[in-house]
Amino acid sequence: MAISGIKGFNDILPGEVEKWQHIEAVARRVFELYGFAEIRVPILEKTELFARSIGDATDIVEKEMYSFVDKGENQVTMRPEGTASVMRAFIEHKLYAGDPVAKLFYMGPMFRYERPQKGRYRQFHQIGAEVTGVTSPVIDAQVLTMLCHFFAELGLTEPRLEINSLGCPECRQGYRRVLKDFLHAKLELLCEDCKRRYETNPLRSLDCKSAGCKEATAGAPSVLDHIDAACADHFARTRHYLDAAGTAYTINPRMVRGLDYYTRTTFELVTALLGAQSAVAAGGRYDGLISDLGGPQLPGIGFAMGVERVALLLAERDFKKRPDLFIAAMGEPARSLAFRLMCNLQRADVSVETDYEGKSLKSQMRRSDKFNARFTLIIGEEELGKGRAILKEMDAGSQEEVALNAGEIAGKVKR
Ligand code: HAM
Repeated sequence: MAISGIKGFNDILPGEVEKWQHIEAVARRVFELYGFAEIRVPILEKTELFARSIGDATDIVEKEMYSFVDKGENQVTMRPEGTASVMRAFIEHKLYAGDPVAKLFYMGPMFRYERPQKGRYRQFHQIGAEVTGVTSPVIDAQVLTMLCHFFAELGLTEPRLEINSLGCPECRQGYRRVLKDFLHAKLELLCEDCKRRYETNPLRSLDCKSAGCKEATAGAPSVLDHIDAACADHFARTRHYLDAAGTAYTINPRMVRGLDYYTRTTFELVTALLGAQSAVAAGGRYDGLISDLGGPQLPGIGFAMGVERVALLLAERDFKKRPDLFIAAMGEPARSLAFRLMCNLQRADVSVETDYEGKSLKSQMRRSDKFNARFTLIIGEEELGKGRAILKEMDAGSQEEVALNAGEIAGKVKR
């Protein structure tokens, strides 16, 4: 029996992978406009890194990590997200030494043991960006504007930006108490998970999808009414700069993030098109994370998008690359010449496809259609004698006779 892949771990096949390459290329191009440099960090880290940064009482750390003891008895985890690893690397390599402001982006697979469904997988991919060392809300607006710029470049205008502020750890403590008092009389309505989290992480019930939690939290006090003056000022100025940048957003005071490191600004880019998996990208500020991980006292902010979800939003679009030229050749001498021509054209930067089996002209033309080649060169025995061939421009349906000369053909078909 053939061996299948693991549930929640997907292959990305030719035909689909072109869409991914497009998403990655647009991200690189847009992020570089804003001065971000790529960083590549390993997939495996010490488990402690994620427990300390994402938080012991989060779903990710409690239930979803791929953790194991390696052959050297080390407790290790396949990264469930990128921020912790990037900050670990930032601290370890003292990237702050010359300048505390680092603008970094990354792309790659992440691993969470979640229940797979459309838009939710166990191996999924993120493209993320992080900025360190800037306290000013200018950077909050800049990071959000870059994220929206990226989606606009993809032609995706539907995901909506929602923002919130979770305040600093001090105001959060106060808000937790207020929220717990509010929920106390409604504990019975909460789902089992939220009941359990009432003591450790009561804010989670605000964005829980269960009907009881929705009922229990209706009319709950807003975090925005419980943040201190400095955090409120940061939020107001973030909104001011977003307005200045022309970046549209709505405020969602019930947005709670599933990772504990957030402070102040948090945000999500939400879509109505992916069912339950509404967040295409998400992130926020983490002003205490770098020092919690043993680094200097520097603030940070960033986001990550789920590439599978972005690809689903681009579902209808075809990113398959078209070869510049398909060469159809009839008879052995023509095939031999076609092969030489093909090699020379490929070396001259022209993408070329052909039929390797020497089938009938009709079947070779069908193959050219299948590849959706922009041009087809037909070399028949008769044309070969004259050193010429027929070049068809497939979309226009026009054709002309050309010399069997790589330079001349390249000049006609090269993009
Ligand atoms: P997150 O909200 O856990 O944040 O994940 C960010 C995005 O990754 C989500 O909005 C979603 O698009 C995608 N995602 C998460 N889990 C899955 C899954 N199981 N299957 C498919 N896609 C998924 C973080 O990871 C933070 N590190 C973001 C961040 C960066 N905050 C600051 N900097």
